Amino acid sequence: MQKSPITKYRPFPVIDLPDRKWPNNVISKAPIWCSVDLRDGNQALAIPMNIDEKLELFQTLVDIGFKQIEVGFPSASDTEFAFCRKLIEENLIPDDVVIQVLVQSREHLIRRTFEAIAGAKQAIVHLYNSTNPLQRRVTFDMSKEQIKNIAVTGTQLVKDLISSVPNTKIFFQYSPESFSDTELEFSLDVCNAVVDIWQPNDEDKIILNLPGTVELATPNVHADQIEWMCRNIKEREKVIVSLHTHNDRGTGVAATELALMAGADRVEGTLFGNGERTGNLDIMVVALNMYSQGINTGLDFSNLKKIREIYERCTRMDVHDRHPYGGDLVFTAFSGSHQDAIKKGVDKMDKADGALWQVPYLAIDPSDIGRTYKAIIRINSQSGKGGVAYIMENEFGFEMPKSMQPEFGAIVNQIADKSSSELSAEQVNEAFQKEYVNRQTPLKLNYYDVDKENMDQNYVTLSADIDFQKSNKKITGNGNGPIAAFVDGLEKVGIKNFRLLKFREHSISSGSKAAAAAYIEIERSSDKKNFWGVGVDTNIELAGLKALVSAYNRSVTK
Ligand code: KIV
Ligand code: ZN
Repeated sequence: MQKSPITKYRPFPVIDLPDRKWPNNVISKAPIWCSVDLRDGNQALAIPMNIDEKLELFQTLVDIGFKQIEVGFPSASDTEFAFCRKLIEENLIPDDVVIQVLVQSREHLIRRTFEAIAGAKQAIVHLYNSTNPLQRRVTFDMSKEQIKNIAVTGTQLVKDLISSVPNTKIFFQYSPESFSDTELEFSLDVCNAVVDIWQPNDEDKIILNLPGTVELATPNVHADQIEWMCRNIKEREKVIVSLHTHNDRGTGVAATELALMAGADRVEGTLFGNGERTGNLDIMVVALNMYSQGINTGLDFSNLKKIREIYERCTRMDVHDRHPYGGDLVFTAFSGSHQDAIKKGVDKMDKADGALWQVPYLAIDPSDIGRTYKAIIRINSQSGKGGVAYIMENEFGFEMPKSMQPEFGAIVNQIADKSSSELSAEQVNEAFQKEYVNRQTPLKLNYYDVDKENMDQNYVTLSADIDFQKSNKKITGNGNGPIAAFVDGLEKVGIKNFRLLKFREHSISSGSKAAAAAYIEIERSSDKKNFWGVGVDTNIELAGLKALVSAYNRSVTK
């Protein structure tokens, strides 16, 4: 890289728009969406999609809800032409979907494009030519007038060819390619000249697509450019201003969002941002960003996982783990504090259908886009009590008492740290079972019976057969319930050196079997240390006794 002074690059010129309005605007409705996956996306693939792949992706785009789909550049290759013909001849385009076809403003290509769309019910012919100073100079060696003339003659030819496809309703789109670095006055001049030729009306508007072909400035500059065009374009009410941002600076989505605030009506983009170089704007992200603000976008991503699978298979591209909304890890929290906050949020949120989503760290409800809650919390050495408790509750039905969670969190943390790897939910459960559940040494409850004759006086008698340090004993005790009576029985044979602190139980169902889980915390008399134990049994009374035995056994082995 060059060291100071950096002479190789210069700042992008600011747009003279001191009274810009867009910063105060808010996006409140969805734009017209147009997918360019099958053209701009496909054009950028090392191995372009074959006809079957394009068809599968086309159908996926239709299912998502796109009503405008650029299906290709039919004059550019036989495959593109054949695909367009297949859609039309096999009647694969729903009545409410308009296909769009791209063509350079060159006569033979425009004529071939009309051959490709003949017979379609409707089609958008998308004409483009480059207008920016660099391309004018180095690529074409043409004056502004010559460049404008290319746009105008192409538009006129499209208009003239409408009569060659009498059964097809033709809509027209013009793109001054590289609008983002074309002088605004010149873009306006070319676009106005195109509008003059096309003569749009209120019902039959012209689409002026203003591409950020190469992203060269901060997104606010693009918004300024779009507001300036919206203010100055001829017959604005007959023009659909369309955006087509690429992502060279990584701000394609932001540029589109600010440009929508600046007055644009339509957005072109691709799923997962596929496209030339760093790609096009990710249309799924823009749509889901809007959805997260309560806007109905008309696009349905409720099965994003499936959409991603089709996209990856057809394009041979991979979606990054951290890709907004679609990546494997984007709803996953590994860190303890995040997990804790998510667990509290999920516990406390209003579960009613349509209730406001308010869970820390999660901008949207993962289930809205087909993600299960399973992936939200994953366990490694960074994780803590909240995440572990979440897993135990959501995967295995154990609602650990709050004061038990830090202890188990630390146990899991140690295991993960030692193994230097992520722990599966099953491994977490294994650790839980081993540490807390139904422990049987040195104390084991073989059999018990409760005499409840005096229960109305808040008094029961429990007799039990136990093993303690390998010797068998019969015990009997009294108390206000079976657990208290069992503790009394243990004390009578000299086994008690603890105090009962907490007890909680709930039912858990795994498959068809319903069981009870009981949690007991005791305090060891010798050093006032606390120990939890868990009992699980189909008999709720026995679950409680097993929990006590487990807590006791833990207290004598620690
Ligand atoms: O990025 C671009 O400028 C294009 C045009 C052809 C619209 O893809
Ligand atoms: Zn493009």
